[in-house]
Amino acid sequence: MKEKILVLGSNGQIGTELVSALRLDYGSDNVIACDIRRPDYEIKNAGPFEFVNVLDKDILKVIFEKYKPTQVYLLAALLSATGEQNPKLAWDLNMNGLLNVLDFALVYKTAKVYWPSSIAVFGPNSPKNNTPQYCTMDPNTVYGISKLAGERWCEYYHQKYGLDVRSIRYPGLISWKAAPGGGTTDYAVHIFHEALKKGNYASFLSATTALPMMYMDDAIRGTIELMNAPADQITIRSSYNFAGVSFTPEVLAAEIRKHIPDFKLSYTGNDHRQQIADSWPSSIDDGFAKKDWAWKPEFDLAKMTADMLINLKK
Ligand code: SER
Repeated sequence: MKEKILVLGSNGQIGTELVSALRLDYGSDNVIACDIRRPDYEIKNAGPFEFVNVLDKDILKVIFEKYKPTQVYLLAALLSATGEQNPKLAWDLNMNGLLNVLDFALVYKTAKVYWPSSIAVFGPNSPKNNTPQYCTMDPNTVYGISKLAGERWCEYYHQKYGLDVRSIRYPGLISWKAAPGGGTTDYAVHIFHEALKKGNYASFLSATTALPMMYMDDAIRGTIELMNAPADQITIRSSYNFAGVSFTPEVLAAEIRKHIPDFKLSYTGNDHRQQIADSWPSSIDDGFAKKDWAWKPEFDLAKMTADMLINLKK
C-alpha cells in the first residue's frame, strides 16, 4: 500500500524528529507536516506543510479530504507544566483534538492512528518503582488526566469501531534538535545546554528526584517499530509502558562531569514542577512492549550524554 502520513503537531520536540524519520522511510512527499506554527526547519526538511489546528474540524476535514491519509500521528498537546497554567485549554486541546482525529480517521478509513500517552497517567498511589502496565492510576495533573482519558478513548475506538490505534506512554524525552515544550522532565534537556554554555545549571527538580527518561533516537525508533508491528501482535490498545533509562539530576550531573569536569549543579527549590515529579514513577516496567513488538532501547545514560554533548557542541 502506498502510504500518506499526516503528522499533526509536527513542529514540537517529537514531531520535528519524527517527520524527518518518516520522510526517510516513506519519501518526503508522502509525509505531511501539520502545525499551527510555521516550521523553522523548512529548508532542512523540505516536504509538504499545512497549517492545521486540531480543534478546527473544518480544517481537519479539508486536510483528510485532500490527502486521504493511511496513517495519522497526533502529537499536538499541552504538556504537564504548561497544562497546569491553563487546565481548561489543556483539557480541550488534549481531549477534543484526539476525538476529532479519531472521528475523521473513521470517516476517511485511515488505516492506523498513533497518539502518544505519558508516564503522567500514573499518580501518587501508583507503584513508584518498575511501575507496571496495569495498576492504580490516579493522575493529579490535567495533562495526566487527559492522557488517561485519551487512552480509554483509544481503546474504545479500537474495540467498538475496529480503528487501529496505537500508543506509547512516553517518559521524559531528551533531544538536541528541538526544544521540549513545557514538561516536568525538561530540566534533563536544559541541563545540557547550560552545561556547555555556562558550566553550571540550577535544577528545578531536587537532587534525588528519579524519573523515567529516554533519548529521542530510541523514542522515534520505538514509535515507528510499534506502528510497523503486525496488528495481531498489539495486545494493548490503551497505551504501552515504554522504558529507556531512569536517573536523578544528581546522577545526570555526575555523568556530564565525565565530559565537563567543572560542571556545577545547584537547585532552585520551591518549584511547582517538583510536586508533579513526586507524583510520577521513578522507573517503568515495559515488559509488554518487549514481548509484543520486541522493544529494546539502545541508549543508556552514558551513550545518551555523550551523544547530546557532541551534537550540541556542533
Ligand atoms: N515529558 C512530559 C512532561 O514532562 C511527560 O510526558 O510533561
